[in-house]
Amino acid sequence: MTKSFAGVKALRGVDLDVRPGEVHCVLGQNGAGKSTLIKTLAGVHRPDEGVITWLGEQVVIPDPEAAIELGIATMYQELDVVDGLTIAENIFLGHELSRGGFTKRSEAARQTRELLRRLGHDKLSPHTEVGMLSAANKQIVSMARALSHDIKLIIMDEPSAVLDTEEVKNLFHVVRELTAAGIAVVYITHRLEEIRQIGDRITVLKDGRSMASGIPVADTPTSELIRLMTGREVENVFPPAAPIPADAPLVLEVEDLALGGLFADVSFSVRAGEIVGLAGLVGSGRSEILETVYGARKATAGSVKVGGKPLRRGSVVHAVRAGIGLSPEERKSQGLVLDEPIFVNVTLSSMSRFAKAGFLDERSERKIAREQIDALELRPADPDRPAMTLSGGNQQKILLARWLVHGTRVLLLDEPTRGVDVGARAEIYALIRRLAAAGNAIVIVSSEIEEVLGLADTVLVVADGRVLKTLPASQIDEHGVLDLVMKGTAA
Ligand SMILES: Nc1ncnc2c1ncn2[C@@H]1O[C@H](COP(=O)(O)OP(=O)(O)OP(=O)(O)O)[C@@H](O)[C@H]1O
Ligand SMILES: [Mg+2]
Repeated sequence: MTKSFAGVKALRGVDLDVRPGEVHCVLGQNGAGKSTLIKTLAGVHRPDEGVITWLGEQVVIPDPEAAIELGIATMYQELDVVDGLTIAENIFLGHELSRGGFTKRSEAARQTRELLRRLGHDKLSPHTEVGMLSAANKQIVSMARALSHDIKLIIMDEPSAVLDTEEVKNLFHVVRELTAAGIAVVYITHRLEEIRQIGDRITVLKDGRSMASGIPVADTPTSELIRLMTGREVENVFPPAAPIPADAPLVLEVEDLALGGLFADVSFSVRAGEIVGLAGLVGSGRSEILETVYGARKATAGSVKVGGKPLRRGSVVHAVRAGIGLSPEERKSQGLVLDEPIFVNVTLSSMSRFAKAGFLDERSERKIAREQIDALELRPADPDRPAMTLSGGNQQKILLARWLVHGTRVLLLDEPTRGVDVGARAEIYALIRRLAAAGNAIVIVSSEIEEVLGLADTVLVVADGRVLKTLPASQIDEHGVLDLVMKGTAA
């Protein structure tokens, strides 16, 4: 398979074969061509060259409907569910169950309930609007929609990126049920440890080429996979943390912060140079805490101080002025203006700095963006490239660059490495540590407990909107966190 976009060779010759009932993992760094490859199978992109053979016959897949008709369903990386519609409406969008022109709503609801139960989520109601759901639950809707068709192959593009430990277990359970029924799964992930748990064979892409095609998981050590992906040896180590000087000033102070029924009594402080991590499961209130500190949600009690000065509740403008920056969990819907070029996205929060007598000074905007592109090794290194056409890891770097340019004192990072490959991950970890060392106060939320523990100086274990424990990261391991969370949730 080959496929070019204006000026970019996304696929330069990729081979992939998938067998019934197997989990075929597709690996590769950000921008390697994984999503492009699967989109040619899903009928989203037409390949320039190459053949697709389906059940022994050569086929052309002109559009997504044709893919579904063949029995190929896809869960996209960018969760393409429609926020304004209900769960049931999303699932039956495009193949409404109609009789005499009327959609049978009750039947759609019944089948939706059935699908949600099969996915272990019978608590979700078919009538809930999808816009109200968390990213993890949107993923469930996307999967339910895939399973609402009669399929032989399901493609999952980084499904675990939005899931926490428990949700991933649930996902794997579903995957095993599917493969037991003879359905093939193509599974894309950046979390290499997952491959050992569910993968059968692996195809590794690098720069649009397959470096390995269908090699067995069992015979391939992780170091070999990383070498195939990156062309070098990468150790997934966290940068060493220098001890924080005892006289480092308190930058961020959060006291007894509460938000309606979502969380309460949240208190912590962050000193210059310190990284504080919030560990817990999806739905524990971690993201809501960050959003409230940032003023995007209005606290119902408590206070947030930056440099000793209290912030106005519910005012993002005030928070940003005081030096707080937030890199949100869902970068595509909350953070990036996808149609705009990199340089606009990078300078978005600092607009006034680039305005001369009311006109935006594009030249300085581009110049600043170019410096960040070099510093963060953004690929492709072109400030005029629309954010939309960048891979996930590179989009994440744009968000970080934005706050670097703006100049912050407090950085709130929600899932900073979601969808970021092993190589870029290590770079982002180092970058976050450098930002701390430069005197910033950093708060990080991640579903990967290992990441919180590896990166943070201090950890807050959060469950059900409460801080269960605050302690130095060196004094707890992943097991300890999960133990606390389970007990805390049961209580
Ligand atoms: N619609 C598009 N227009 C232009 N270039 C594109 C488009 N879609 C993808 N690309 C480019 O094609 C290359 C492969 O991108 P792709 O999204 O397939 O990577 P990926 O392996 O899925 O990465 P990630 O792990 O970040 O999701 C990248 O250089 C990307 O910038
Ligand atoms: Mg992708």
